[in-house]
Amino acid sequence: MTLNLKDYVASYPDFPEPGILFRDISPLLENGAAYRQATNEIVEYAQKLNVDMVVGPEARGFIVGCPVAYDLNIGFAPARKKGKLPGNTVKATYGLEYGESSLYLHDDAIKPGQRVLVTDDLLATGGTIAATIQLVEDLGGVVAGTAFFVELMELKGRDKIKDYDILSLMQY
Ligand code: PRP
Ligand code: ADE
Repeated sequence: MTLNLKDYVASYPDFPEPGILFRDISPLLENGAAYRQATNEIVEYAQKLNVDMVVGPEARGFIVGCPVAYDLNIGFAPARKKGKLPGNTVKATYGLEYGESSLYLHDDAIKPGQRVLVTDDLLATGGTIAATIQLVEDLGGVVAGTAFFVELMELKGRDKIKDYDILSLMQY
């Protein structure tokens, strides 16, 4: 049975600040069949792209990327927020739908020429994913594709990453 994944996304007006309609994937994660279906769709996509590594930004990018990497028997490298990674890092700064932030990646996380899938739970303005792509490319990685559970069409995040292949499982 194929589930309608949108049945497992909750919407919260005015979170975390007025004017933001927050799309929450918690119900999807809490349902084993829904989480597995969403993960499997991304695994199939990654197989077609022949990827060697998965990279996802803190925190929700881990939730999407780690089970995909596990299933494909490949590595996962976390792109983390300030002050979290102990080794030498590369850094990218970006704007968000709410606020500004920086992401860091260990500078030996990706080997030059490796094909990388970049994952996140949600594509909004595209700032987070563009920064994560920049980190991968700074290390010589090839971004083979990007994958999201949710895409917020109004915010036109895909325009920011128009040179890259995009899989989004749900659009709002
Ligand atoms: C959220 C979400 C994406 C990003 C999408 O993360 O998980 O990473 O925003 O927005 P964008 O396309 O406009 O960049 P957030 O920064 O809230 O961090 P979290 O995952 O730690 O909650
Ligand atoms: N990240 C950025 N914008 C978001 C939104 N509207 N809902 C959930 N996560 C987000």
